[in-house]
Amino acid sequence: MTRLQKTLVSGSPEETAELARRVGARLTPGDTVLLSGPIGAGKTHFVRSLIHSVLDFPEDVPSPTFTLVQTYDTPHGEVWHADLYRVGSVDEVVELGLTDAFDTGICLVEWPDRLGDLAPGDALFIHMEPGATDPDRRLFHIRSSNPKWAEFAVPDTDE
Ligand SMILES: Nc1ncnc2c1ncn2[C@@H]1O[C@H](COP(=O)(O)OP(=O)(O)OP(=O)(O)O)[C@@H](O)[C@H]1O
Ligand SMILES: [Mg+2]
Repeated sequence: MTRLQKTLVSGSPEETAELARRVGARLTPGDTVLLSGPIGAGKTHFVRSLIHSVLDFPEDVPSPTFTLVQTYDTPHGEVWHADLYRVGSVDEVVELGLTDAFDTGICLVEWPDRLGDLAPGDALFIHMEPGATDPDRRLFHIRSSNPKWAEFAVPDTDE
């Protein structure tokens, strides 16, 4: 991966997986990673790569497009993978148990705009932007108010 000012550039799915592994290695219960970006940006690819890297034993990591949430027992703690694309209200987010999981588990959330005010303020926000011409290029805009993520993220002073 290449670092432009305040932006990481991935040139391939494998480079994105490498970033996902580096983030995954640091995760502990109570951490939340929010992944935004358009359809096909690579949010599920990032999460799948991350979960594969933290699992003790190989396991399928299906996209939670229809189940909304998939959970995994990992050596880091319980990992929740949520895809909120089809979620219509914040009540549904609470019903899924996601707000409790923000406190106790490790949450990896696609389409986090659906969370409204429920998004944890100290989350790692990753916005994936497809490159303009190269179909394998992605720009990563990463921010967090949590100093734990300083290696990857621009400090978020809005929180
Ligand atoms: N640099 C890259 N990083 C991530 N994925 C890439 C990259 N280059 C190509 N891809 C491909 O882009 C596709 C991304 O699909 P993926 O399902 O991860 O997107 P998504 O953001 O989860 O979409 P959705 O909003 O529909 O859930 C994958 O087929 C992946 O191999
Ligand atoms: Mg997806």
